[in-house]
Amino acid sequence: MTIVLEARNLFAGYGGVPVLHGIDLRVHEGEVVALLGANGAGKTTTLLALAGVIPSHGEIIVNGSPAAGPLHQRARAGLSFLPEERGIIRALTVREHFDLAQVDQEACFEISPQLRALANRQAGQLSGGEQQILALTRAVASNPKVLLADELSLGLAPIVVSRMLGLARQLAERGAGVLLVEQFARQALLVSDRAYVLRRGQIVLSGTASDLLADIGTVEKTYFGMPEEINR
Ligand SMILES: Nc1ncnc2c1ncn2[C@@H]1O[C@H](COP(=O)(O)OP(=O)(O)O)[C@@H](O)[C@H]1O
Ligand SMILES: [Mg+2]
Repeated sequence: MTIVLEARNLFAGYGGVPVLHGIDLRVHEGEVVALLGANGAGKTTTLLALAGVIPSHGEIIVNGSPAAGPLHQRARAGLSFLPEERGIIRALTVREHFDLAQVDQEACFEISPQLRALANRQAGQLSGGEQQILALTRAVASNPKVLLADELSLGLAPIVVSRMLGLARQLAERGAGVLLVEQFARQALLVSDRAYVLRRGQIVLSGTASDLLADIGTVEKTYFGMPEEINR
């Protein structure tokens, strides 16, 4: 199967303080891959490095080409990044969000029909769940070859979570690769094909989602115990 995203020996950090210590990962066409780990393990940092938001060392290959430069350049190679902050502008309507992102409105409404009735509503007047769906819909509608999504399920009602994870799965079924960062392992593993577990900036475990789920008690106890702030 074609690899749509690959990182080899990836190092990154903040202001000279290293956080990632040589990450290797791959996402294939059609795959949803979970990137799991305790709070502070380096999940968001990995996405920021892959997206080109922060500088990194090592190799990143997006859709067959070495990724270089900032996010907007990587976006042209087919990468879409859904950051934790989501990039919703409260004063803009749903429709204006789609226009600003230069994605087809009708395609967006087909992806998430519930947004059609909200098209002229300002994003600030949407519920939290609706804002999340707006952000993900916009990312999916850009028809990326690779989607990087940070904490899709964080703080959302279960119905919204399943809608969000379902959209990620649909995108993969259309041939994209999805890298899903999640702090809560079980839920992510249920919609993923494979997973990597990060600890202190290194991949310490990888496998199929079903293998990890089969052993989830031990996996959680071993890798998800405590926030990782100290002794990096
Ligand atoms: N902007 C930043 N400046 C300095 N350190 C940061 C910054 N963002 C995150 N870190 C540190 O990097 C480590 C990994 O953080 P992060 O990638 O956000 O973890 P996760 O997403 O897995 O919770 C943590 O020790 C965190 O304190
Ligand atoms: Mg994070």
